[in-house]
Formats: sequence, C-alpha cells, structure tokens
Amino acid sequence: MIKEFIGNTPLRKDEYLSKKYKANILVKEEFYNPGKSSKDRAAWFMLEDAINKNKIVDGGTFVEASSGNTGISIALIASELGYKSRIFVSSSCSEEKIKLLKKYGAEIERCDNSNGLHVFNSTQYLAQNYSSNHPNTYFTNQYYNSNNIKANYKTTGPEIWKQTAGKVTHVIVGVGTGGTISGLGRYLKEQNPNVKIWGVEPNNSVYELYMAGKNIPDTEINFDSIEGIGRTFIPGAFDRKCVDKIFQISKDDTIAMAHLFRAERQDLLGFSSAAVLATLDRYVEEMELKESDVVVLFFPDHGSRYINKLYKDFAPITELKGNYNASI
Ligand SMILES: Cc1ncc(COP(=O)(O)O)c(C=O)c1O
Repeated sequence: MIKEFIGNTPLRKDEYLSKKYKANILVKEEFYNPGKSSKDRAAWFMLEDAINKNKIVDGGTFVEASSGNTGISIALIASELGYKSRIFVSSSCSEEKIKLLKKYGAEIERCDNSNGLHVFNSTQYLAQNYSSNHPNTYFTNQYYNSNNIKANYKTTGPEIWKQTAGKVTHVIVGVGTGGTISGLGRYLKEQNPNVKIWGVEPNNSVYELYMAGKNIPDTEINFDSIEGIGRTFIPGAFDRKCVDKIFQISKDDTIAMAHLFRAERQDLLGFSSAAVLATLDRYVEEMELKESDVVVLFFPDHGSRYINKLYKDFAPITELKGNYNASI
C-alpha cells in the first residue's frame, strides 16, 4: 500500500551548509516520497478523506488545480487506488511535470493562470467548474481543503520534532497554498512556541503584505515566477498564527543559487528549494542565527524536475546578487 511509503523522509545534517552559515543546517529531503515530492502527504490525506466520506465511488475522477507536484501526487495515488485524475495546470508548469502527469494516467488541462477560484479561466476556477458539471468527480481543492494543513500537522511536524529530538529552533519553508508551513508550524509551535517558522515567497507575492496587516491590491499582481511558491490571494490553507515571518526572494537570486549549488555540490536543487537556500543566504545576517541553532530547510522536491527550466544551459555564474561565497 502506497500510504506506508509516504512521509518519514530523511532529515540530513548538511555539514557544508552548516559550516557556511555557522549553525546546524538540516535538510528535510522530501524527494524521497513515492511521488518524489512533499505533496504526496497532502494528496494522500485529501483522497483518503474523500473516499472515506463517500464523496467519490470506485472508478471516479479526482480533479485538482496544481502547478504540478500536487497533481502528480494525486495522479499517482488515485491510479494506485483505482481512480482517475484530471489535473488543471497553469502555463508555467514544467515539461517534466507534464510528462510525469501523463505517465501516471492523468488527463491534463492547461490554463492561463492559477490566480484563484474567483478568477475566470484560472486552474482553480476551471477545475471546480469541471467537477460541478461531471458526476463522480471530486475536486480536492488544495487551497481550501483542511486536509492539506492536517497532513503536515500529522506527519511533517511530528517527523521534524522527532528527528531533531525536540531541538529544532527554525524551519525555513516555501509557501504556495500554505498547507505545509501552516501544518508543520502548528505542530511545532504546540511543542515549543519559540520555534521560528519562516516562510519564503517570490518577490511581489502577497503573503508578506498579509502578514503585515496590509491590504492585498485589487490591481493585477505579477509575482516572480518560482514554481510551487507565491500567490496573488490568501488561500484558506494558510494560517498566519503558525508563521513568524515571510521573506521574499527574487527569481534571479533563486536561479543563481541553483546554479551555484550545482557547481559546488554537483547536485540539483528543486526550484522552490533553491528559493529557500537563496533566502537563507541573502538574509543570513538579519536572521542572527546562533551556532547552537538547529535550522531545518524544507526541500519539497528535486532539481531533476526542472532540468529544462533551471539546468538546461549550464551558464557560468557571472553575477550573484546575494552573499554567495563559493570558497569555504
Ligand atoms: C515545489 C513546491 N514547493 C513548494 C510548494 C508549496 O507548498 P504548499 O502548497 O504546502 O505551501 C509546492 C506546492 O505545490 C511545491 O510543489
């Protein structure tokens, strides 16, 4: 049963990063999940809940709006359980993810944007519309499904607590729907209210504004496109009480970090993982980390999902805006 293989991913101390940033830096390696991303967790909880509550019957179709990873997880788990899937992806979705979705048997709908249920032609609008008009389909609606938070409250948070023997002091995690940060943040703060839960979003995304109590502009919002993170609206899956701070990072800094990591470590960071590491690098002074701190970087997937987007042209690293120091 696929459920047994979801979660319990490694939390690895990265000696190189620990030395570089003068704190204990641990990486939560979510690409060890069967669908190769953290979104297996939320997908499992959403599908299991719908099946248990008889919202869909055998052979039915799960419908979701996803930049890729949630869709991949749903397609994989649905097919294992004898269901179909139909995934509404935004135009920015990587070719690797589209190919994987097809391999897992998903039907794919490409949409203009993923700007929320209230926006015509968005992935969410079209997914809901499709589900409303087709019997025996279920729209998992990750942006508003409480199982998205619950999955991370029940699994990711407890894993991090146990794997650090309660010593975790900070978690830095990308924010898309908000399910991961809210679920793991809620659990960890219940264990120790002093744990800092820091989110990462692309420049011009709206979470930072929201955290500062400012209004989200009515005008069209164009945030830096970093696959998996950032929003133009605040989804129900984001719980501000579980979050201490949101940092913003640019796409350029994120790509530069991905290339630097490849050059220095011979490994490929996922797009949003690169954003998390670029954020640590850029704001490390402001973060005022102590040597005894235990900092968990949440890496939702792996760079192998972004070969065309991030690593096709192994361009030399010419200009790095952040505090990128290759020599340690
Ligand atoms: C690569 C990647 N990073 C980060 C996230 C954000 O996670 P969440 O939606 O739980 O905020 C996602 C979500 O799909 C993702 O696919």
